[in-house]
Amino acid sequence: MTSERLIIQILQVSRILTPKTGLPTPITRGCGLKIISYERISSTNTKAKTLAEKQAADWTVVTSEVQTQGRGRSGRSWKSPKGGLWFSLIIRPRIHVDRISLLQFLFANALRKGIEEVYGVQSEVKWPNDLVVEWKKLAGILIETKLSGPELVYAIVGIGLNVNLTAEQLPTGATSIFLVKKKRFSLEKTLGSMLTVLERHYETLRDESAVVDEWWKHCAHRMKPVIIETGNSRIPGKCVGVNPDGSIIIQTEQGNVTVPDGTLRLDA
Ligand code: BTN
Repeated sequence: MTSERLIIQILQVSRILTPKTGLPTPITRGCGLKIISYERISSTNTKAKTLAEKQAADWTVVTSEVQTQGRGRSGRSWKSPKGGLWFSLIIRPRIHVDRISLLQFLFANALRKGIEEVYGVQSEVKWPNDLVVEWKKLAGILIETKLSGPELVYAIVGIGLNVNLTAEQLPTGATSIFLVKKKRFSLEKTLGSMLTVLERHYETLRDESAVVDEWWKHCAHRMKPVIIETGNSRIPGKCVGVNPDGSIIIQTEQGNVTVPDGTLRLDA
């Protein structure tokens, strides 16, 4: 059974962000930030989606101490015991569908910066939208969207950050803030600080090339040999770039190949 624990309302001034390049309409940002916290819930993304369908405001945040059916990319499950930050944002930027992929870079950038400012941990971004420390996964982002024709109705940005998890609680190949810093952090306080950083970064959505450049600058596999695994293929080559549409560019013996989606690993 799920139990709603508390609702915090943080009021903020509303703003209209006018895009610098190419976006058809202004990106409007909501006038409030409402955090809905649960002790236990199936998935904050699923709950956020239900709320978004009921017209929940821009920047409504759903968080839970535990997720019983946390979801990851490509239908994978996401282990979510007590000790992590598991939360989802409802955002309603007025952007064209071809700009949606920019959100994955934007939130990866924002999360990287937040992790640095709030916890003092340096991490790198890994395609498509993971945060890693020495190639171990520290955080993941799952973005789900609803479209109406060429327009985005809302996006749910689900963020899973391994904060106080011990080695025994983590899946293979993952790490946590606790393992890196050897200390535990208050989840409630750091969620507030993290949201402040995410909100600040959200404004960079106006500038497509700055978002992509920032991501590339902090990419763990920039110009490195990698293998991209997609449903039925395996593409080895050097990672030479990413595109604003979210795809990755791999230099292979046959020339450059652009891959829209997949799982990346280092080709050791
Ligand atoms: C991934 O790397 O596969 C993405 C993981 C995203 C996990 C977060 S935890 C909060 C939100 N709720 C979910 O069910 N998933 C996301």
